Parts: sequence; C-alpha cells; structure tokens
Amino acid sequence: MQTAEIRRRWLQFFGDRGHTVVPSASLVSDDPSLLFTVAGMVPFIPYLTGLIPAPYPRATSVQKCIRTNDIEEVGKTPRHGTFFQMNGNFSFGDYFKEQAIEFAWQFLTTPESDGGLGFSPDDLWVTVYEDDDEAIAFWKAHSSLPDERIQRLGKDTNYWSTGQPGPAGPCSEIFFDRGPEYGIDGGPATDDDRYVEIWNLVFMQYQIADVRSKYDFEITGELPNKNIDTGMGLERVAFIKQGVDNMYEIDQVRPVLDKAAEISGRRYGAVHEDDVRMRVIADHVRSALMLIADGVSPSNEGRGYILRRLLRRTVRAMRLLGVEGATFPQLFPESRDAMRDAYPEVASDYDRIARIAYAEEETFLRTLAQGTTILDVAVERAKQDGAPSIGGDTAFLLHDTFGFPIDLTMEMAEEAGVQVDRTAFETLMSEQRARAKADAKSKKTALGDLSVYSAFRAKG
Ligand code: SER
Repeated sequence: MQTAEIRRRWLQFFGDRGHTVVPSASLVSDDPSLLFTVAGMVPFIPYLTGLIPAPYPRATSVQKCIRTNDIEEVGKTPRHGTFFQMNGNFSFGDYFKEQAIEFAWQFLTTPESDGGLGFSPDDLWVTVYEDDDEAIAFWKAHSSLPDERIQRLGKDTNYWSTGQPGPAGPCSEIFFDRGPEYGIDGGPATDDDRYVEIWNLVFMQYQIADVRSKYDFEITGELPNKNIDTGMGLERVAFIKQGVDNMYEIDQVRPVLDKAAEISGRRYGAVHEDDVRMRVIADHVRSALMLIADGVSPSNEGRGYILRRLLRRTVRAMRLLGVEGATFPQLFPESRDAMRDAYPEVASDYDRIARIAYAEEETFLRTLAQGTTILDVAVERAKQDGAPSIGGDTAFLLHDTFGFPIDLTMEMAEEAGVQVDRTAFETLMSEQRARAKADAKSKKTALGDLSVYSAFRAKG
C-alpha cells in the first residue's frame, strides 16, 4: 500500500467519525519553546492547555515533523527519520481513553477491503503506563489481544510530553511484531527492532513543569480537559505495509537512495557501510527539501544550522561513496517528485529550493577536501600523542574557515576514534562572537562621528 493511500485512509476514517481534517502546519513551529514541529500535537498545544478554546471538539491531521536528536541513528535502524509524517487524531475534552483505544484497534484491524489497514491481530502488541489499569481494561474490552500481549512499562517510554513544560500524560503504545528473524521473543519490553512502535495514544490530562528529562519532571496540575493526542508514524506503517525492511525503502524515500547508488556506481545491499550512507542521503535530502520549502535557509544558528548540518552530512556521505562532484542537482529532483503529490509546494517552489540547496553544496564542496585533510592530520597527531581528543582550535578552524558544522567534525573524529575538545571550541566561538560585537560597535561609533561632520557641513 502506497504512503499516499495510508494517509488517505487515515483522514477518511477519522473524518467519517466527526474529526475536522486540519492541514499540516509548517515545520517551523509557532511555539517559542520548540525549534521545529516535533509531533502532530504541536499546532494544537494551545487547545490542549486550554489557552485558546478549541474551534472543534475533534481533529485529525497528517503533520510534517522534524526530529534531529537521533540523527546518529539514521540509516542504522529501520525507523529513525529526521523528517517524518505523523498521522494524528485529537480530542479536546470530547472523547477520552476508551474511544481512543477503540478507534485505534478498529482502524488497524479492519480489512483493507473495508477501508482499514488490515493488520492481523496476531502481529500486534500494546504497552500501557505502569499503573494504568483502566487502559488495560479498555484494551481487553475492545481488542482481541491476549493478556500477555499487553505490557506495563514505566515513565521513560509510557509518559509523553514534548520535553518542555506543558501538556503531558500517560500513554499506550501499539507495536507490530516483525517476527523472530528480527529479534528475540518477549514483546516490546525486550526489543524495539523486532517490535516496531507504530502508534502512540497519549491520554493528555496533566500539566508538567521543571522538565529535567523524559522521566524526571513535576506534575503541576490537571489540564482543564481530558484530551486525546495520538500519533501514528506514517513511514513506519508504510514500510510494514510495503513489505520492505525500513523507512528508507518506502515509495516516498527510495528514489533518492536509488539515485545515490546510481551516481556512485555502488549497489545497495552489497556493503553495510555503503547502505547506511545511502539511507542517510535519502533521509537527509528529503528533510532538507521539506525544510527549505517551509522557509528555512542554511546558517550557523538555530533552524538554519540544523538544515546546514543535514545538507553537509549529505555531501560528506556522497563523498564517502566515492563521488567528488556536485550531486544535489540529481538527488533533489528525485525527492521532489516523490513528495509533490502530498506537498505540491515542493514542485511549485522548486526553483527557489534548488537555488538554496545547490548553492550550499557548491560552497561546502570547495572546502570539504581541504578540511578533511586538516582533520585527518589532527586525528593522526592526537593518536600519536596518545591524546584523547583533538584541540578546540582545529575544530574552530574547520568551522570558521572550512564551514564544518561542529557536530560533523565531532562525528568524523569519533569515527576515527578520537573526541573533540568541545569546551575549548565553545570558548573560541564565544571569543569570536565578542570580537564581532565589539567590531560592530566600533563601526557604529564611526558612523556616529561622520554624522557630526555632516552636521557641520550643513551649518557651513
Ligand atoms: N505526541 C505523541 C507522540 O509524538 C503522540 O502523538 O508520540
């Protein structure tokens, strides 16, 4: 089943059940505490907290999301994408736990011929928050899951928030069992490669603050309403329904991977390291395309930095595949064509997107080879000296003169077996910022002085 078809069925199912279909919001989040839209619920946060009355009691969307905290996992696991789409159904003080569970089971297990996804109940498992007896009772009432396929897990996995102060709640996750060839028995509590999480049902009823980690925060009170926020990973369901091994091989992503293989003359499926690089390229090109479409430009800070890092990691991955020249003019059109049905703006605005992406590649290609040599020399020296890390000055030089994002330098150094003195790097960066500030100030003063002369001239 094509990704577009899963999306269509989703919106139809929840639309038919009284949910207002809301178009995806931008990847650039309105929420000042979040750089990007990291989940389907982000555009609805004011309705969940009660800050703004929800204009509808139920909503459904397929939301574009960016998450880069697991960027190192991309290409290595089957399911870590920096860009992904989250299918969500939401209730703002309307239905709650029981109805959310019933909807989820129904959508997943209704036969394809009747508009569902046609999952076999035998392949599904669920987890609930440790003391959520109510959720267990509803799963037993509304699904055919045997008791042993309903597992209780703790706060680190089954209590959801954005990681910022705001709405939160216990959750129940649904998993697909890929079978014994992918890992050991025992359900999602034991293995997350074999048991792939496909859908998270969050029972949003609390407000949290002082968030120190995923499982260390204060519950400061109840939200005005008991809400539902669910998120089904569109790419994850697509890879299962398309019978492929991972999200990089689905219809919306694979064409870029194939193009990377074609350009490099290497075969996908032959060498593990090359496969990872091709998957990284396929993921990052799509993320960059979607970010630029939503108005982000490469820069050294904030959102622009994330985009720059994605683009430069792509350039480097192509180089590791043995390709020296520019490849974005071949890779990006593949991604555009795979995404244009769902997001027509990537085609209508392609000239602008291409200009930004291709220019970034050109700029980085001019310095990549030289910078890599400098890094290699520093790594060798550190190894000879038995030093655990390369100096912050090398990382600074690579950043300042050769355009290496610090995270890229760190990744490359780590691959070679050494660390980077990040503290020294940060010190050099703040010194440079201070110098730039002082410089700007002195220029301002100079202009001020000139204005005095012009005042004299006007008098004379
Ligand atoms: N907000 C939850 C998640 O991102 C469910 O939508 O997993």
